[in-house]
Amino acid sequence: MKIDDLLNHMWKTYTSLNPHIKEVLDLIKSKENTEILNDHIALRTFNHERINKNKLADFFLGSGYKFVENLHFDQKRLDASYYIHPNNKLPRIFISELRIQDFSTEFQNKINDIVDGIDKNKFNSPLFLTNGTPWEKISYLDYKMVQKESDYAAWVLSHGYIANHFTVSVTDCTFFKNLQQINLFLKQNGFEINSSGGEIKGSPKIGLEQSSIMAKKISVAFSDGIYDIPGCYYEFAFRYNGFDGFITSSANHIFESTNEKKA
Ligand code: NI
Repeated sequence: MKIDDLLNHMWKTYTSLNPHIKEVLDLIKSKENTEILNDHIALRTFNHERINKNKLADFFLGSGYKFVENLHFDQKRLDASYYIHPNNKLPRIFISELRIQDFSTEFQNKINDIVDGIDKNKFNSPLFLTNGTPWEKISYLDYKMVQKESDYAAWVLSHGYIANHFTVSVTDCTFFKNLQQINLFLKQNGFEINSSGGEIKGSPKIGLEQSSIMAKKISVAFSDGIYDIPGCYYEFAFRYNGFDGFITSSANHIFESTNEKKA
């Protein structure tokens, strides 16, 4: 499979499950005349050996992507790696994994049981990265149990392997000159911007600014019924002075874009 085909599939699954993403892109395109490029695509997983971030990275590495750096998010109890392709039209790939061992025994047992039950053949094609959950549907009860300790874990267990977010490279836009402008435009059109740590994370000085909409709720089938839970979000990035990496303190807040509002 060609990398472009996989990325197209990832985009299709991501937008068909989350119609609000397409609405945002259409809004941006109503102003922007240039091709919209993606700064990065993010995937989430657990640090279980069968499905850890290295496992998810295999196909990208085989398609010319190069590993760049490991990042650590102690407060969120997760680690991430990102990968860059020599063809700079291709987005960076950002893969994070939750440190299962940092959670309660009950939580660890739940995740390990679910992951241990996966059929290994599910990973034969890179399309597993667009196929959602490779495990049996979890119950909503388990979703809520896991969510008490980690919104991130609840997201992975219920959505599985689909892109968590794509990221518009505002650096490559011509109508939108900065993130303030794009955030304001989206707010005027009814979208909520993640304000954890300020609407814009980072600064020109450190080379990267990021913002994102909050994930909208989508209907997901659990083993005991259909429930509305946070789906995917869309991110916006602006880079300065050729800075090519990521900033942990910024990403820390961006992870919260799929958090469920506590009632
Ligand atoms: Ni991101």
